[in-house]
Amino acid sequence: VRQSIAVRLAWMFALAALVVFSLVGAALHRVLYRELERHQIEELQTRVEVMQHMISRTDTPESWLRVHDKLDSLAPGDRAIRVWAFSSDPAFEYGDAPGTLRQRLAGPDGLGEIALTEGARPLRTLTRTIPATGARPDVRFVVGIDSTGFHDTMRVFAIALIALSLAGVAGVAALGYWIARVGLQPVSRLSEEARRIRPSNLSQRLEQSGPNELTRLVGAFNGALDRLEGAYKQLDAFNADVAHELRTPLTNLIGQTQVALSKQRTVEQHREVLQSNLEELDRLRAIVNDMLFLARADRGAVASDLVRVSLAAEVDRAVDFMEVVLDDLGVRVRVEGDAQASIDRSLFGRAITNLLQNAVQHSAPGSEVVVRVTPERGGARIAVANPGEPIPSEHLNRLFDRFYRVDVSRGNSGENHGLGLSIVKAVAAMHDGAVFALSKDRVNTVGFTVALRPA
Ligand SMILES: Nc1ncnc2c1ncn2[C@@H]1O[C@H](COP(=O)(O)OP(=O)(O)OP(=O)(O)O)[C@@H](O)[C@H]1O
Ligand SMILES: [Mg+2]
Repeated sequence: VRQSIAVRLAWMFALAALVVFSLVGAALHRVLYRELERHQIEELQTRVEVMQHMISRTDTPESWLRVHDKLDSLAPGDRAIRVWAFSSDPAFEYGDAPGTLRQRLAGPDGLGEIALTEGARPLRTLTRTIPATGARPDVRFVVGIDSTGFHDTMRVFAIALIALSLAGVAGVAALGYWIARVGLQPVSRLSEEARRIRPSNLSQRLEQSGPNELTRLVGAFNGALDRLEGAYKQLDAFNADVAHELRTPLTNLIGQTQVALSKQRTVEQHREVLQSNLEELDRLRAIVNDMLFLARADRGAVASDLVRVSLAAEVDRAVDFMEVVLDDLGVRVRVEGDAQASIDRSLFGRAITNLLQNAVQHSAPGSEVVVRVTPERGGARIAVANPGEPIPSEHLNRLFDRFYRVDVSRGNSGENHGLGLSIVKAVAAMHDGAVFALSKDRVNTVGFTVALRPA
C-alpha cells in the first residue's frame, strides 16, 4: 500500500504523544497516590498520638470511661474513622468487633489493611500497643480509616487522565498531519512543475527555491533533465543528419535511373549507369553500416575479442592496406614508438584507418604523416599527425561529433559523411579510452587512447 508521508508522520506524532502522555500520566498518578496516602497516614498518626497520651495515664476502669467518651468523639457517626481498643481485661476495651474481626484486628503494631466484611473496601489501620499501668493491662489500640473516598478519587483521576491523554493523542495526530501537509507543500509544487515538463519544453527546469532538503533533489532532477535534453537534441540532430546524408545518394540514384530510362540506350550506356548506381549504393551501405556500428556502441557494446599485441605492428598492417592510396597521393607514413596492449584488432584497425584517411586527405602531396605510439600509465596512446591548415579551436572538440565536418562545402562532395571520427571515438570508448585532437604549428594531431586490460 502506498502511504502518504503526511499520514505516516501523523501516525508517528500520535505514537510519540502516546508515549509522552502515558509516562507523564503514570507519574502524575503516582504522585497523587503517594500524597493522598501520606495524608491518610498522618491522620491516623495524629489520632493515635492523642489517644496514646490519654490511655497511657489511664490505670482504673473508672477513668477508662473518660477514654470512652473521648473515643466516641474521635470516631464520628459517618464511620469514616473507626476505633477499637482491646485488652485481656474486658473493662478496658472499646468498639464492637465480632469474633473473627477481633482476630483479624489483633495484628502486629504498625500500619495495615483490614476488610471489615467480605468483599468490602479495606480500612487502612494503625495499631499500637500501650503498655500496662496500675490496674490496666496492655491495651492494643487500633484506628482505621475508610479509604473508599481515596480509591474513588484515584479512579476518577485515572479515567480523566486516560480520556485526556487519548484526546491529546488525537489532537497531536491531527496537528501533525496538518503540519506535515503544510511542510510538504513544496513537494507537491515540485511534482506539479515536473508534470508540466514535456518534450516540447525540455529546456524548462524545476525552480531551485524551496527548503534545503529539496534543493539537492531538484539539482539532481535538473541534472538528469540537462543530460536528457542534450541526448534528445543530439538524437534530433542525428535524425535530421541521417535523412540529409541518405537523401543525396538517393537523389543521385533516382536522377540517373530516370535519365537512363528517358531514351533508348545502348547496353554499354546501361552498364555505365548501373556502375555509377552501384557506387552510390555502396556509399549508402557504408553509411548504414557505420550507423549500425555506432548504435551498437551506444548501447554499451565493449571490445570483447581482446588480444595482446604490439600496437606499432597493427598500425603497420593498416598502412600496408592503404599502400595504393598513399602511393597515388605521394604521402609517406612513419610509425614511431611502440606499446603492448590488449585490443580488438579489427576495431583498432578500423580506427587507425579512419585516422590515416583523414590525415592523408588533409595533407599536401609529398608530405609525411607520423603515427606515434606511446605507452601511458594504464594504457597506450596513438596519435596521427599530419602537416596541414590549422583547425580553428571551436571545431576541435566537435570533430568527433556525428556528421560533423569542418568544411561543409567539401562534405557535400559525397565522399565523406563525417562519421569517421565518431567511429574512432566509439572504438576508443569500447577500449575504455578517449579521443583527442590538437592543432599546433601547422601540424594537426588526432588520436585516441586505449586502456590496459587483461586479454
Ligand atoms: N587530419 C585532419 N586535418 C584537418 N581536418 C581534419 C582532420 N581529420 C579530420 N578533420 C576534420 O574533421 C571532420 C570530421 O572527420 P571525420 O573523419 O569524422 O569525417 P569525414 O572525414 O569528413 O568523413 P568520413 O570519415 O566519414 O568519410 C572532417 O570533415 C575534417 O573537416
Ligand atoms: Mg574521415
